[in-house]
Amino acid sequence: MNTFRNKVVVLTGASSGIGKALALQLADQGAKLVLAARDLTKLQETEALCVKKGAQTHVVSLDVSVREACSALIRETIETFGQLDVLINNAGVTMWARFDEITAPETLLRLMEVNFWGSVWCTYYALPHLKQSKGRVVGVASLTGKTGVPTRSIYAATKHAMAGFFDSLRIELAESGVDITMIYPGFVQSEIRGRAIGPDGKAIGDSPVKEREVMTAEACARQILVATAARKRELVMTTRGKLGLWIKLIAPRLVDNIARKAIETGK
Ligand SMILES: NC(=O)c1ccc[n+]([C@@H]2O[C@H](COP(=O)([O-])OP(=O)(O)OC[C@H]3O[C@@H](n4cnc5c(N)ncnc54)[C@H](OP(=O)(O)O)[C@@H]3O)[C@@H](O)[C@H]2O)c1
Repeated sequence: MNTFRNKVVVLTGASSGIGKALALQLADQGAKLVLAARDLTKLQETEALCVKKGAQTHVVSLDVSVREACSALIRETIETFGQLDVLINNAGVTMWARFDEITAPETLLRLMEVNFWGSVWCTYYALPHLKQSKGRVVGVASLTGKTGVPTRSIYAATKHAMAGFFDSLRIELAESGVDITMIYPGFVQSEIRGRAIGPDGKAIGDSPVKEREVMTAEACARQILVATAARKRELVMTTRGKLGLWIKLIAPRLVDNIARKAIETGK
């Protein structure tokens, strides 16, 4: 693929998981990368691997829930590379708790601040530059952005919110040359579950998912880049996810049971 050669890509959540895999594959494809997340040490590890592949890179340590930090991220991108072609809103956090067992409800605000507002702020400041380049915006949501999943109530709400925002924006931008690709992955191997907010508001530590049996971050990143290159409207991952969309139209309770089983079996 040549789509990303010399394109300037801002990638949030580049310090681990899917974001790190995206960074390495974009480096392989000759993109100029702005790598963003909070953990500077881990970002620099990703950066070093990208530089080894010959990529030009710039690292920005930020919290995407802070609006001014997102503004500075885009400003630094333009100062460094002079243009912006692709924004990948990938930074995210999750939860693993039944709603009626949560004892620290205030911690749940964080999910919306990072997943939803973080994507909104980055997109807001990037848009003028993306209009100039007729660029692309990617929103990494989740299958929970398509259907409800137990233990994920607020996380699912943040991903539904992302879908509502980006689907609306896509219509507004129809004549602008800017395309929006929404991504709906199923379970993917990453650090997200160990860091998931549990019932007491603290990270749960051990992943309840059979991590070795689910999609790798590399496979997920490959699919994201193919869809982004093709300016696809959306990408729903996994056979279960794709079939679930159709089944939900005629037998929504069956999809509820599939979602429950996925959480109970951890795959
Ligand atoms: N893994 C899955 O099963 C799965 C499934 C569906 C969707 N997704 C989505 O995929 C995206 C990537 O997740 P992942 O699975 O790769 O998880 P991950 O390994 O935990 O990576 C999450 C990334 O987001 C960054 N991040 C978290 N909070 C941030 C903040 N406030 N500001 C800036 N960066 C922040 C993290 O870096 P720092 O900690 O350094 O800030 C990290 O780079 C998320 O949006 C997630 O919801 C994942």
